[in-house]
Amino acid sequence: MCGIAGIVALEDISARLVQSIRNLEYRGYDSCGIAMLNGSGKIKISKNIGSVEEVCEKENFGRLKGSVGIAHTRWATHGGVTKSNAHPHMSCDNGFSIAHNGIISNHEKLRTRLKNAGHRFRSTTDTEVIVHLVEDWHRKVKSVEKAFVAAMRELDGTYAVILVTGHEPDRIYCARNESPLLIGLGDYVNYIGSDLNAFIDHTKNAVFMEDKEYAIVTHDSCILKRISDGETMSRQVQELMWDSEMAQKGGFPHYMLKEIYEQPQVVHNALDIDPELVEGFARMALEKKTLHITGVGTTFYVSQIGQYYFSRYAGVTPMVISSDEFRFLAQVDKDTAIIAVSQSGETYDTLNALRYGKSHHATTGAIVNVMGSSMARMVDQMILQGSGPEICVISTKAALSQMIILARIAMAAGVMNGRITAKQARGYEAQLRELPAAIENVLNEKSGFIHTIAQQQSHIKHWLFLGRGRYYPVARESALKMKEVSYVHAEGMPSGFLKHGTIALIDENLNSVVFAPPEEEKELYKLTLSSAEEIRARDGYVLGLTFKQKKKEKLPFTEQIVLPKTPPFTAPFLQMVVAQLLSYFTATTLKRNIDRPRSLAKSVTVA
Ligand code: G6P
Repeated sequence: MCGIAGIVALEDISARLVQSIRNLEYRGYDSCGIAMLNGSGKIKISKNIGSVEEVCEKENFGRLKGSVGIAHTRWATHGGVTKSNAHPHMSCDNGFSIAHNGIISNHEKLRTRLKNAGHRFRSTTDTEVIVHLVEDWHRKVKSVEKAFVAAMRELDGTYAVILVTGHEPDRIYCARNESPLLIGLGDYVNYIGSDLNAFIDHTKNAVFMEDKEYAIVTHDSCILKRISDGETMSRQVQELMWDSEMAQKGGFPHYMLKEIYEQPQVVHNALDIDPELVEGFARMALEKKTLHITGVGTTFYVSQIGQYYFSRYAGVTPMVISSDEFRFLAQVDKDTAIIAVSQSGETYDTLNALRYGKSHHATTGAIVNVMGSSMARMVDQMILQGSGPEICVISTKAALSQMIILARIAMAAGVMNGRITAKQARGYEAQLRELPAAIENVLNEKSGFIHTIAQQQSHIKHWLFLGRGRYYPVARESALKMKEVSYVHAEGMPSGFLKHGTIALIDENLNSVVFAPPEEEKELYKLTLSSAEEIRARDGYVLGLTFKQKKKEKLPFTEQIVLPKTPPFTAPFLQMVVAQLLSYFTATTLKRNIDRPRSLAKSVTVA
């Protein structure tokens, strides 16, 4: 949601601190700010509304020199997008400054108490209560550490909190509960970040904080303690696998396009994941009476495609519930396996589904992209998808990778329970190995045409994305892409569902995209085409995504994008790439903010 960064060094850190929140901007981008301790122990704050670039220019961040500082980029939850609500926040006497990610659920009660004790509030955020609370405790206990811990113990809700104080100007205090926070260890300089992008330019050595822990970080030390009883915790230093170059645009105009183009490599990486890990998931899925796959947003649709692959290739139909609804629908006990899918590994709803599962004794697994993320650390089994940093808020390459991994798990399960033979599985795997080249071909050969269609149809305000079978979740995911990046209304649904109501909407103001399978999926093919015919009969525009046919026949589409001959196993994945490009080019034509669409955040860490 929000991005948090902190640096403790011996020399000036101003440029590095601004860069940290620039790298974290995809977590939130409505306002940002910096609090810097200068040599005399005074805190200087600079903040405003707008992107890091805008605020940096408006406020001239560079003038804030210092060797200890914190910074924040915000995605508003409590309190509107205003300068005073931007973080960091200051205590009444300007002795403490805090930035926070999460939601303090008892903030109203605390605010009333603190106001009655004479504290003056300058914002309407839940965060500001934390800084006054620390100040309040400090007046009583006269120790920063004791005051910080006492304040943390009073907070209900979720938080990653970072604090600087003039009382101890050589250090940063930080704490976490259900919001990510990690510490990067450098040479006489230490970093704090809500994810590794905050400091990956400078160090690859990191310590991951656990829930209900706090840390005291100086330029050459980092002490981790438990909030409840102050017990010191030991933790291994981990080496991060990404590097800063991977998170650069590399000549592409947007991260979204760069990440779409990285998909051939990402598929390779997904196929190179250790078969033993994949089999571990398959075993877990088969051993338990009930299998759930869960995610939210894009990862919900990824889970749905997993469901279809499991059903077809393993003869098992898992329950797929959007993780925000999980607790209200899922029946979970010790005979349940849950596979969570998440790019960030931090999404609140999906974490919550896993927590719910664990509290009901389920066996858990997660497919995540971010190493050391909360989900990666809480599950019994984990697959790190290895897609590299996904910076655009809209998920593309991570989603495709997750689909491939779920298809692999389904295949492995199918071999284990005899639904398919090992030879067939090898055949499907070989088809998957051909997918990167097919994607490359589409990117090279079809981009121009897709761009033209997107430009010609950019006046359209409503889209329907239709598919059947394994093409249905891809249609839904493609509709989500269109909504997220171009702000154009789009709905994804099974094409068979169309005639049961939605067909009433067909007119010249609504376009449809039909995901037609390769012709050898005979029944699916025929049924999908009949939906396209229903739309054409009502003079609706239909864009068909098709594959090269053996014999030329007239298809019921207004326009079509013909893809090279592709085996059914991988066909939906290739069509998804086409739909990603359609959304991308629609959004660029409409001059949208591609990598940071309005109101979205890459990792939604609040309920
Ligand atoms: C947010 C994003 C979605 C994303 C979802 C799941 O809602 O806006 O685009 O699909 O989170 O994120 P995850 O990191 O768990 O995959």
